[in-house]
Amino acid sequence: MLHDQDRIFTNLYGMHDRTLDGAKKRGHWDGTAGLIEKGRDWIIQEMKDSGLRGRGGAGFPTGLKWSFMPKESDGRPAYLVVNADESEPGTCKDREIMRHDPHTLIEGCLFASFAMQAHACYIYIRGEYIREREALQRAIDEAYDAGLVGPNAAGSGWDFEIFLHHGAGAYICGEETALLESLEGKKGMPRMKPPFPAGAGLYGCPTTVNNVESIAVVPTILRRGASWFSSFGRENNAGTKLFAVSGHVNKPCVVEEAMSISFEELIEKHCGGIRGGWDNLKAVIPGGSSVPCVRGEKMKDAIMDFDYLRGELGSGLGTAAVIVMDKDTDIIKAIWRLAKFYKHESCGQCTPCREGTGWMMRVMDRLVRGEADEEEIDMLWDVTKQVEGHTICALGDAAAWPIQGLIRNFRDEIEDRIKAQKSGRVSAVAAE
Ligand code: NAI
Ligand code: SF4
Repeated sequence: MLHDQDRIFTNLYGMHDRTLDGAKKRGHWDGTAGLIEKGRDWIIQEMKDSGLRGRGGAGFPTGLKWSFMPKESDGRPAYLVVNADESEPGTCKDREIMRHDPHTLIEGCLFASFAMQAHACYIYIRGEYIREREALQRAIDEAYDAGLVGPNAAGSGWDFEIFLHHGAGAYICGEETALLESLEGKKGMPRMKPPFPAGAGLYGCPTTVNNVESIAVVPTILRRGASWFSSFGRENNAGTKLFAVSGHVNKPCVVEEAMSISFEELIEKHCGGIRGGWDNLKAVIPGGSSVPCVRGEKMKDAIMDFDYLRGELGSGLGTAAVIVMDKDTDIIKAIWRLAKFYKHESCGQCTPCREGTGWMMRVMDRLVRGEADEEEIDMLWDVTKQVEGHTICALGDAAAWPIQGLIRNFRDEIEDRIKAQKSGRVSAVAAE
């Protein structure tokens, strides 16, 4: 359990002053130059020792990622790019940081950029996040005015510029290489990896792309120490984490908790319980829409971290956007809606995704209405397997996994609907 004094994000929901004065009172920008003076190797080692795994969904170790950047410049500039294109359905944690605690993000950008020898940082913010970009730009302006960024940033001797770039509403631009293409002024289409951005990223230069939350926790890790951060959570799943809980709980919220908290504690302590009680819990998508759903009865004792959710439940922590569904939910329709989303957002560049998302959506259309044949369930499963792992970027997997979760966990419900429809017992459920 996380106590108040251990929270990194002390201004969620804007309870306090979010201006530079307020941020300083909460401890931000305190002794920044002194921490930078400890050097790049020290910062990167602290990040490695902290055990922080990327908070954008994939959970790749942040310190390790930073260490991929060239130690010596080969004449190309290095860049930090912050992925603020938060668009994964259910995910609304980064916007809380940008709205109400923007200075911890900006200070984190300075530390990260210095550690990776980048003089420039681009924050790519989701186009629909209008208030967030206003708040963040205000904070960037304040930081410039106070000499915390710009030449000799915060008196550290490091020249550091920070730019806010607005996206234009495409989900795929949250994929790191599509984001880089978009930042370069091109159509947002993912690149083949490798090369990874550390080798050839923005304008072909060494680049690290990190999620907002990953960067915003850096100042606190450096101030309080790697061992403080790694004291939360289980091995390989360290730290504190923002959870965004939505759906059928009594009080949906974004909350910071210790990694590896149990699902039950998360829901009881912060969300006022499940609507209608625990017996009314049908399913949970524990990590944003691209991870498979889990049956409610398996979730109560679940541990909310990367390894448990993937290893024990075949799902994932993803962005820790926890979507709770009670027994009133038409789970087939809920997953059909996601299939429609991924079909719409596919960039169309590779065949398994472009064609597969359309196939999956069309079969899901019929399953929602109960109009499919039972053998189409297996055919749909096969299609998901042909998409999974065969595409340029993770959108293909993201489209396949929710459907796999539905078939694995709720096949009985799909079959019942088909049988009922065939026997004329129920009228068709209309897909919108
Ligand atoms: P990934 O596992 O391919 O990569 C994760 C990060 O590690 C990337 O920055 C990549 O460059 C780096 N990396 C991985 N292997 C590397 C290697 N061998 N050498 C150097 N660097 C390496 O995952 P990806 O495609 O970046 O992200 C997928 C995740 O994104 C999903 O799990 C999903 O949950 C999440 N997501 C989050 C969204 C949001 O709104 N926050 C939106 C959509 C998806
Ligand atoms: Fe585009 Fe889909 Fe291929 Fe990703 S997997 S590159 S979104 S077509």
